[in-house]
Amino acid sequence: MIALVGDIEVGFDDVGSGIPLVLLHAFPLDRTMWAPQLSALVERARCIAPDLRGFGQTTAAGAYSIDGYADDVAGLLDALRIGRAVVGGLSMGGYIALAMWRRHPERVRGLVLADTRATADDAAGLASRRSLIELARTKGSGAVAGAQIVGLVGKSTREKHPDIFDSVHRLMAQASDEGIIGALEAMMARSDSTPFLSTIDVPTLIVVGDEDAITPPKVARAMQVEIPGSRLEVLAQAGHLSNIERPAAFNTVLSEFLVSLLYS
Ligand code: MLT
Repeated sequence: MIALVGDIEVGFDDVGSGIPLVLLHAFPLDRTMWAPQLSALVERARCIAPDLRGFGQTTAAGAYSIDGYADDVAGLLDALRIGRAVVGGLSMGGYIALAMWRRHPERVRGLVLADTRATADDAAGLASRRSLIELARTKGSGAVAGAQIVGLVGKSTREKHPDIFDSVHRLMAQASDEGIIGALEAMMARSDSTPFLSTIDVPTLIVVGDEDAITPPKVARAMQVEIPGSRLEVLAQAGHLSNIERPAAFNTVLSEFLVSLLYS
């Protein structure tokens, strides 16, 4: 489906019924990474998975920032006449979920922070993003996918499920160069959400793969300590893309979380 949000078209899936659940994708993927969750959760939640600006079917135009992506998500909720939703995101999607909390807390019924971090980029992270921008400019998304894929997918998945590795690689290679560069610039400029963690007063689920090399379990634990009452689930034999690598385990913890909201 496509919705007009401000001056851009946003591609999104909207399936199922129940509590609204927005799922925000990782970099440099698109909304289709949530297919294992959408198919499993349709009876539990109204699952809304948008393509972020510059990815999938969403217009690549305008300024790119993490706060801007969050505003696009709030605009999509307006277009769908949804007041509050559980907002979940994986990695870059998690940065945006935290920005939703900072900028639009009244729209957030709960948070799901998967394989993500609250802190901003450090000097090494900024340097690596500059190299990726250069790679995207000179060689395009296929080269970016090649450079990123090994870090995204965990060791167990690489060894036991080469099919998952290949499909993620293909998905990454499809991203537009403009979307990639915009997202990298947005992530470089993002602010540190750590000071806001202690203000989160909605139910929060933190999920991380135990083989996540990009946002490892210790990063997830650091967020859990700061977010009052939050719950942490560490998924065995999953890397950074835990929802794709261990879909059944991810769906179980997400489903349990959604049920717990009925009683909170
Ligand atoms: C992602 O999976 O979205 C990226 O690893 C986020 C990042 O590069 O910081």
